[in-house]
Amino acid sequence: MKRRDFIKLSLLSPLAVSSFGTFLASCGGGGGDSAPPAESRNPLNLPQDKGLLGYLRPQGRITIEASPDEMEIIPGKITRNLLTYKVDGYINPILVLKKGDLFSVDFLNKTGEESIIHWHGFRAHWKADGHPAYQVGNGETYSYPDISIIDRSGTYFYHPHPHGRTGYQVYHGLAGMIIIEDDDEIVLRNVLDLELGITDIPLIIQDKSFNPDGSLRYDPIGMNGIMGFWGDTVLVNMTYKPFLDVERRIYRFRILNGSNARPYRLVLLKGNQSLRFWVIGVEGGLLENPIETTEILVAPGERIDILVDFRDVNVGDVVKLYSLKTGLINMSGMGMMENVDREFEVLEIRVKKDSSYDKQIPQELSTVQKIDTTNARTETISLGMDTGSFNINGLVWDNTNALADYGFNYNNGDIVVIEFTNNTGMYHPMHLHGFQFQIIERSSGNLRPTDMGWKDIVIVAPDETVKIAIDMSHSFGEEQVYLMHCHILEHHDTGMMVNYRVSA
Ligand code: C2O
Ligand code: CU
Ligand code: CU
Repeated sequence: MKRRDFIKLSLLSPLAVSSFGTFLASCGGGGGDSAPPAESRNPLNLPQDKGLLGYLRPQGRITIEASPDEMEIIPGKITRNLLTYKVDGYINPILVLKKGDLFSVDFLNKTGEESIIHWHGFRAHWKADGHPAYQVGNGETYSYPDISIIDRSGTYFYHPHPHGRTGYQVYHGLAGMIIIEDDDEIVLRNVLDLELGITDIPLIIQDKSFNPDGSLRYDPIGMNGIMGFWGDTVLVNMTYKPFLDVERRIYRFRILNGSNARPYRLVLLKGNQSLRFWVIGVEGGLLENPIETTEILVAPGERIDILVDFRDVNVGDVVKLYSLKTGLINMSGMGMMENVDREFEVLEIRVKKDSSYDKQIPQELSTVQKIDTTNARTETISLGMDTGSFNINGLVWDNTNALADYGFNYNNGDIVVIEFTNNTGMYHPMHLHGFQFQIIERSSGNLRPTDMGWKDIVIVAPDETVKIAIDMSHSFGEEQVYLMHCHILEHHDTGMMVNYRVSA
């Protein structure tokens, strides 16, 4: 289907027509009309000993409970319709695991509906992966088989994965970060003198929309479903209008795009001048070498680790983490729709203090073994749209049969090259469970810094073809059933998802 057809379809879909007015009201005027009035800024929420985002190093088997919560996000208002993960005193803890650890966890579901936790990025047995076939009802517990941590040091993601309700549950607050540590990580931390929560800082970026009473608004119908739900207010670590004080030294930021649908094109601005920074890691961990750049594109589910050297600026300077228009929505003639893809500030960083810091960014970070695709089996997968929902090769998830066979069957040990083609007017951040992959080619040009290393999400822009390589080797001893889906959660919930099987 061509882009033109997509536009026609969007307009003709009755749902789209009925909610089109609401949609324009919520995103018209480039966000200017609906943006909240100027108010003072709030200190960025950072991990403390316990509480929100606290670092939790699990000892033995832990229970993670998902249940209702409330929080003062917008000062003076209480957001009462939140859901959060809780582990004695921690709220949405950042789980810190070591390569080689056994991660042993029970999930207690008190969300009021079905749920399950997915460990996004882990190469885990599928019965421990949060496949919707294992979602449990309210009041029930799912005991995960022990997960042995075989992944590389990096930033991972945990979030709900019940079919049809992932978008709702993530949006209402169920989303957390995982940090895996290995030897490369410890070396880097020592060389740069980085400390978790102080100079190694999580930035979980999420866009939300609020009702006047402070509750979250979520109505993924019509265009909000087709485009995915784009909120009008961007939070970082659940902080509204955040600022962060820093010293003149190197900081590491672990960026996790925990939004349902919105991609960010991030730059660091001092006035109009954009500052350099270095990409050092992506979803599957550290890159071989740091890559200097001035902007990164980060889609939902992606994790991008960067280093910023605040010795490039002066005490008293203010640096803004800012998001530019991404251009990932391509619906010509629909100017109003394109307004959801706009510019805004994400975080204000204030350079407060000088420091005697004298470390330099190392040239080598880790090793990334390139997948040899000489004997790969190649498969073309088209991302399309039909009657109001997106599909994968024309296939739409069957919500009545979580184990349905979609015909994507591979053998353990296969090297597969998947060529994604996108025939829709929207980008799709495609995600695979079970394996990390490597991006090998983009029809639109060169690979980006965020395309390097081991990935579990690949952005496929409108009209673009992207090739990835996967080594489907596992040692679980039985057939694995993993998911492949779009990480725009409303696309995922409405069926842009399939199972793929890998033999024993
Ligand atoms: Cu973060 Cu199946 O996804
Ligand atoms: Cu995942
Ligand atoms: Cu999509």
